[in-house]
Amino acid sequence: MTARPDAPSSGLIIAVDGPAASGKGTIASGLARAFRLPYLDTGALYRAVGLGVLGVGGDPADAALATQVAQGLRPGEADEAAIRAHGVGEAASLVAAHTGVRAALKTLQQNFARQPGGAVLDGRDIGTVIAPFATAKLFVTASPEVRADRRWKQHLGLGHVVSFEEVLADIGQRDARDRGRDAAPLRPAQDAVLLDTTHLTIEAAADAARRIVEKARDASGSSR
Ligand code: CDP
Repeated sequence: MTARPDAPSSGLIIAVDGPAASGKGTIASGLARAFRLPYLDTGALYRAVGLGVLGVGGDPADAALATQVAQGLRPGEADEAAIRAHGVGEAASLVAAHTGVRAALKTLQQNFARQPGGAVLDGRDIGTVIAPFATAKLFVTASPEVRADRRWKQHLGLGHVVSFEEVLADIGQRDARDRGRDAAPLRPAQDAVLLDTTHLTIEAAADAARRIVEKARDASGSSR
């Protein structure tokens, strides 16, 4: 008998959601190291679909094309540097609003979450749609200015030419679209713990996240 996708799992499943550049990727990858779990950056999947649509000269608003690209996606094959480019976040947010795209990527994400022992996933709808059965759910936030500053510095480090104002406008626009869409909108799960990283160093945020997970794990009786 195969397990129902919404059934609980015996592993430690950690869902990390939050708006653009909130620090969820850093926190999620740190949790994966701390708890020795595999990690999936689900935003990279949507970015790969956005890049794929742009790559064939298509419009990310074209639901049929975006769904076709998502259905043919081979995770891990997209160029890491290319999917992190400034304009690709916007394309990702546009393709992510299509229900067909989300459906095409859902099973892959749920299978990742349910692997033996557990997993860490970060995104926008992990705690609400992909893994509502997760042991621990975090919703990571930070002020828009701090998020834009972090993302702008990342872009500079990667050699991308983009202004702070452009980055701030991009994340504001993406947040509004991600929160306002009908398909799996960005919102904290009812049982998520909010973690505001505005005034936290990376180390302090990682410590706080680890404590949240330990508490949830102990409360759930998970053996890991
Ligand atoms: O790193 P950043 O926060 O800028 O974004 P990301 O996590 O790489 O995601 C890029 C875009 O993909 C987001 O703006 C969302 O529109 C979309 N996304 C989503 O809809 N659901 C997810 N689970 C992950 C990303």
